[in-house]
Amino acid sequence: MIREITTLFALAAATAACAPAENDFTTAALDYCAAQSRRSLDELPADYTVTPRNVAPDAAQWHARPVCKEEWTEGFWPGILWYDYEYTGDERFRTAAEGYTEALDFITRGPAYDHDTGFIIFCSYGNGYRLTGRDDYREAILRTADYMAELFNPAAGTILSWPREVPTFDGHNTIMDNMINLETLFWAAEQTGDRRYADIARSHADRTMLNNFREDGTSYHVAVYALPGGEFLRGCTHQGYADDSMWARGQAWGIYGFTMCYRFTGDERYRDFAARIADVYMERLPADMVPYWDFDDPRIPDAPHDASAAAVVASALLELSTYCEGDTSARFRDSAERMLRSLDAGYRSGERNPSFLLHSTGHHPAGSEIDYSIIYADYYFIEALMRLHRLEQGLPVVG
Ligand code: GLY
Repeated sequence: MIREITTLFALAAATAACAPAENDFTTAALDYCAAQSRRSLDELPADYTVTPRNVAPDAAQWHARPVCKEEWTEGFWPGILWYDYEYTGDERFRTAAEGYTEALDFITRGPAYDHDTGFIIFCSYGNGYRLTGRDDYREAILRTADYMAELFNPAAGTILSWPREVPTFDGHNTIMDNMINLETLFWAAEQTGDRRYADIARSHADRTMLNNFREDGTSYHVAVYALPGGEFLRGCTHQGYADDSMWARGQAWGIYGFTMCYRFTGDERYRDFAARIADVYMERLPADMVPYWDFDDPRIPDAPHDASAAAVVASALLELSTYCEGDTSARFRDSAERMLRSLDAGYRSGERNPSFLLHSTGHHPAGSEIDYSIIYADYYFIEALMRLHRLEQGLPVVG
């Protein structure tokens, strides 16, 4: 806890010492995020149980939704507020971050609805614990790890991502997004010393590496396993263009997830795999470094973009750059910075609405959130900027 709080003050002091210079991209972008977040706080309902989700292309305000177990995005807004607090030290952000975080307590009390509990709780309580060291936040994350562990199927070797979709896929399903939620399990193993959490996370990562990827390093959104035997049956899509296409955010979750696995395990297979699938992703990016929603949509270049995928990958590459050496490290860091500068220059919401970024795509096949501002794009954008800011201050990339 002392380490976390010391780090917060070190970052605040470093921020103050380096007052935003005109040409300082990172601090200018973080100042922009803080200003947009203040605007959101002014405009949102005075109710911590209602959180911002998206802004339609023709709208000027957040569409906010009541928190409920069926949502997967309600941890991102408190996570953004924690990052705003970390950067600015403004108590208004801390008060709001606490309020929105604690409104999610009921989700930590299960039963686990699906793997997304990890997203919801680690972005909110995880950042809150990192910055405050509060015991009740730690307990909330540990409860969540237990619920996620309950979804583990030893026969398949992975977590069941979507329990309610077993009939749809006619089997145990494991989606690429689930890689992000291994962080809760690895973290719980470190906190408690109980290797069971880490064993589940490693098994899940290994099976995902094997079955959610094709030979060429592109990913399937969904891997389906037989019940009850656990044999791998097939790879397919849910949110991508086609079963054999590369859905941009799916590949992004993979790059981020395997990088994070290396952070906790030091297993070079995870780092090297993250680097390989990052290269596969980057080789096919358009000039502005922000992908179309699916790399194989035949309408490209007229297909919608997905700024959220770019933000996720930028954040991941900044971390990955610190685990690599020489030219590889420099290339990942440079690519991440170019992605962030491109998002900042060409995708800012600015006056149009109070989010940070325009042009994300949620669930294209369902016709949902196409070319919207979406809260998770903003979360990974500010996270990536904070990581860059930390690196510029000579601090570890992950606080
Ligand atoms: N986790 C769902 C998505 O990336 O849209």
